[in-house]
Amino acid sequence: MPDVMLSGGLSERRPARPGRPTWSTRLGALHAAGAFLATAALLAAGSLASCAGKARDPEFVPADYASWRKTTELRLDYPIPGHEDRLRVIRMNEAGFAVRPVMLDGRLRYDFPSGAVIAKEIYQGSSPAPGEAPVSITAMVKAPGDPRALGGWLWIAKDLSKPFPNETVFGDRFCVGCHANANERHPYGDRNKAEEFRDYVFFVPSAASPPIP
Ligand code: HEC
Repeated sequence: MPDVMLSGGLSERRPARPGRPTWSTRLGALHAAGAFLATAALLAAGSLASCAGKARDPEFVPADYASWRKTTELRLDYPIPGHEDRLRVIRMNEAGFAVRPVMLDGRLRYDFPSGAVIAKEIYQGSSPAPGEAPVSITAMVKAPGDPRALGGWLWIAKDLSKPFPNETVFGDRFCVGCHANANERHPYGDRNKAEEFRDYVFFVPSAASPPIP
């Protein structure tokens, strides 16, 4: 599916604005650093060791998240950096679906409400067997008042391969840096050709595909 591959987006990329990293520089660095799942797993393991005995955050991704509506019906099994062609399924809670864009200075702008949670399941392969469980979840939790928030969101990885999966909140710009691409033209979904401000979310429900009943 070359239309959704990164190369497709790069070839039609507009000239870079001065001082702004582009897909190629951002993603080049990521490729050099290696697969992001491995990084997430390592960080999760490290934080588990260092946080032993300390109070743990309540679960950001509740147990019933799998009943939430999907944000897109597109089959996300095409390669993206860090996930290769592993199948991804994105779900969001109803607080998130309440988002309504506003027009500000001629640009459509989405600001997800506090309490919005988006959970992305990542499967081992591109075609999981019926009933197969995902291997990990990455999540975004809108919590602008939280000192760990970046771009208004908490960025969370949950490695489900562990017997007691813990949730790691990312404190660096690893996640938000790449998700800043969602606010400009990018190679995925409807590609955000109008460069709407989408609050760091690649698949906003009303823009990327009609809301799923
Ligand atoms: C190299 C770029 C990149 C990095 C780094 C990255 N993501 Fe993403 N993320 C994407 C893309 C592209 C999508 C669109 C869905 C897909 O194809 O998987 C996405 C989708 C998501 C979604 C679903 C909401 C949306 O934007 O549609 C969540 C949640 C998410 N990522 C969390 C994270 C977290 C947490 C991290 C850090 C651990 C992270 N991401 C790091 C590129 C990235």
